[in-house]
Amino acid sequence: MNQRPHLLVVDPAHFEVSYAINPWMRPGAWLENPAAHRDAARQSFEALVTAFETAGARVEALAGAAGVPDMVFPANAAVVLNGRAMMARFRCPERQGEEPMFLEAFERLRARGVLSEVIELPKGRLQEGAGDCIWDAGRQLFWVGYGQRSDAESPRTIGQVFGQQVVALELATEEFYHLDTCFLPLSGGEVIYYPPAFTAAARRRIRQHVEPGKLFEASAEDAAAFCINAVNIGREVVMARATPDMRALLTRLGYHLSDVDLAPFILSGGAAYCMSLRLDRRSDPHSLTEPQALEAARHDLVGS
Ligand code: ARG
Repeated sequence: MNQRPHLLVVDPAHFEVSYAINPWMRPGAWLENPAAHRDAARQSFEALVTAFETAGARVEALAGAAGVPDMVFPANAAVVLNGRAMMARFRCPERQGEEPMFLEAFERLRARGVLSEVIELPKGRLQEGAGDCIWDAGRQLFWVGYGQRSDAESPRTIGQVFGQQVVALELATEEFYHLDTCFLPLSGGEVIYYPPAFTAAARRRIRQHVEPGKLFEASAEDAAAFCINAVNIGREVVMARATPDMRALLTRLGYHLSDVDLAPFILSGGAAYCMSLRLDRRSDPHSLTEPQALEAARHDLVGS
């Protein structure tokens, strides 16, 4: 049975850029004309929801709340796999007010049967949800970013909580503070990433797991346009306004691109991936993970 992907988004009625906790955030630009930015944000949000639906997703919107404008980025609310949600702990006080609100919302999802379990990390831990923890369905593993917002313990915690293979990637810069700003695994096994965002050890680790023919470097321009922060559903890719290079790359790889003007949200340092959270991801209990498959293949050879 082929279920439609289920995406959670948050209505932007309370969105604004009123503080700066990453180098992209521009509260001054927002203040020049808050009403116009708010209207533009509403239009962008609606265009994004349409693009998700056209790509085949079922989209569910939560209401936001006054005083927590970055709730519009629910990728940071939790890590979700196999019906289990591990709720985020935010580094910045500006976003910690989102924790109880998302917790309540996720408890409601559990009551409806959308989720089976809601897990809370102890206070003092730092992990900013799927923004720093990206499920790679082809490889059956989590790519986990840490070092900027999420703590160095989080890769191990995620591995334990979900019982899945984890590849920990240390993020090296303030500009690319969440993994989803600089790392995009696609359904065909390709990975598009922005190398300067990672430590040398993390870049090595990426190369260990992704064959050279599948690994593609994004440019500084692609990264600054938040093109890497994309949602991939099958052969569909939804992102902010694409650079010509990003469009050409995805077309060459056989993906269909929908790009949406997300400028109001880029004023807060976020775009398509951060503005959504997949609720329906399941690991495949039958498929072998890549290292196991390799091991099995070797075993076959030896055994024959
Ligand atoms: N202003 C938000 C912050 O700095 C943007 C979050 C974007 N989310 C993401 N997953 N990259 O936390």
